[in-house]
Amino acid sequence: MKKIIVGPLTRANNSSSVEVTVEDKRVVDARCSGIFFRGFELILRGRDPRDASYLTERICGICSAAHGTAASFALEDAAGVRPPRNGNLLRNLILGADFLQSHIRHFYLYSLLDYVRGPNQRPFIPGYTKGYRLHGKVNEAMVEHYFQAVEISRLTHKLLTLLGGKAPHNHGLLAGGSTVSPAADILMDFGSKLRKIIDFIKNIMVPDTLTLAEAYPDYYEIGCRAPNLLEFGLFPRSEDDNERSFPGGVIIDGHPQKLDSSAIREHLKYSWFTGNSEPRHPSRGRTEPDREKEGAYSWAKAPRYGGKPMEGGPLARLWIRGDYRKGISTMDRIVARAMEAEMIGKSMEGWVEELQPGAPVFNAFNVPREAEGAGLTGAMRGPLGHWLRIEKGRIAHYEIITPTTWNFSPRDDTGQLGPVEEALIGTPIEDENEPVEIGRVVRAFDVCSSCSVHLIVPGTPVKETIIVP
Ligand code: NI
Repeated sequence: MKKIIVGPLTRANNSSSVEVTVEDKRVVDARCSGIFFRGFELILRGRDPRDASYLTERICGICSAAHGTAASFALEDAAGVRPPRNGNLLRNLILGADFLQSHIRHFYLYSLLDYVRGPNQRPFIPGYTKGYRLHGKVNEAMVEHYFQAVEISRLTHKLLTLLGGKAPHNHGLLAGGSTVSPAADILMDFGSKLRKIIDFIKNIMVPDTLTLAEAYPDYYEIGCRAPNLLEFGLFPRSEDDNERSFPGGVIIDGHPQKLDSSAIREHLKYSWFTGNSEPRHPSRGRTEPDREKEGAYSWAKAPRYGGKPMEGGPLARLWIRGDYRKGISTMDRIVARAMEAEMIGKSMEGWVEELQPGAPVFNAFNVPREAEGAGLTGAMRGPLGHWLRIEKGRIAHYEIITPTTWNFSPRDDTGQLGPVEEALIGTPIEDENEPVEIGRVVRAFDVCSSCSVHLIVPGTPVKETIIVP
């Protein structure tokens, strides 16, 4: 029996790690740890509710538009307001641009190097020395595409900047709609950049995922877990939000069900938070850190739906919508993400067409003195929820459950494993000294990779504060 700890999982920062126990060349136990404290819930207390969309975007550098969206939805729910048609379309386009950025970076910068041998120089070395199955020109082409992906992902940020002002942490999203009504030349520029990105996804990224799937077909049998899937719904189709392009829903043991967000509970037994005696709904959740807590091993809480550990992400979304129901495995997760990127790009082209020049983008509203609201959206890695309570016009309670908290959660109060932990059990490990298989399984979930904030104090070297996704 051997224990192996793999981290940093994100290649970018050490905010998460996984500890597995290997026996007879198979994973028999797994523990996922978020090893830094986030605490945005505490930062938000006492603030103006309108600040939440901008502050929570700072949770993350790669999925920031999703937090801005969830925070906007939560305040709109509390205030009883919705954006005008153009405002809804612009928000979809801003979030869509961030999705394309994230999905492209996930595949090329995050996942690919577990399968493809990089150039023999830093930052590609030191790396694993075996387990690579692509050779010669095929491997070379993948590496070439890796570098193209860096350029294309920069273009996705330019896309976001055109409507959001800056990237990451855009200023275009807010409760009530969007901040800027774009001029025709901006939309033309947006359209031409979007076409280049779609070309790359369609002609390079999707074929590359299929090349991997062909070379590593055993990964359709690795990283499997029971079909328990959750999605809150992504991209409101209209300003009324009565339908979403990717609908919310639940799959429980393979059976589709209607989403009922009141079935969510947060378990704290194995998390470094003062324990609830009973698991609570996030609208009544508590965030009181306790680093010394006996038995705990993560800063992530353990959210459960109807008592079940639920997986979110592109595979869950496509499964719920009925577009992809092949399997629940490492390779299915990778292929579904590329498919989803192509679908979102296509939808975005339609939304640009639907924009009406000069029409309003924002509906003004009054912040209520006392109210509650929930902001539920699909995010890049799965369901994202913000729960808000306003008292005397200020934020009295805020609770955030990120997709990575669902996927990467620790055990719950009943001892059930989190989804990534479940997926790791049974993974074959060929060589315990080079356990490349673990990274492949975990990274297919796209553990939120850039949830870090850099703090600069004038006159001192740059320090990095890392925040749990
Ligand atoms: Ni994130």
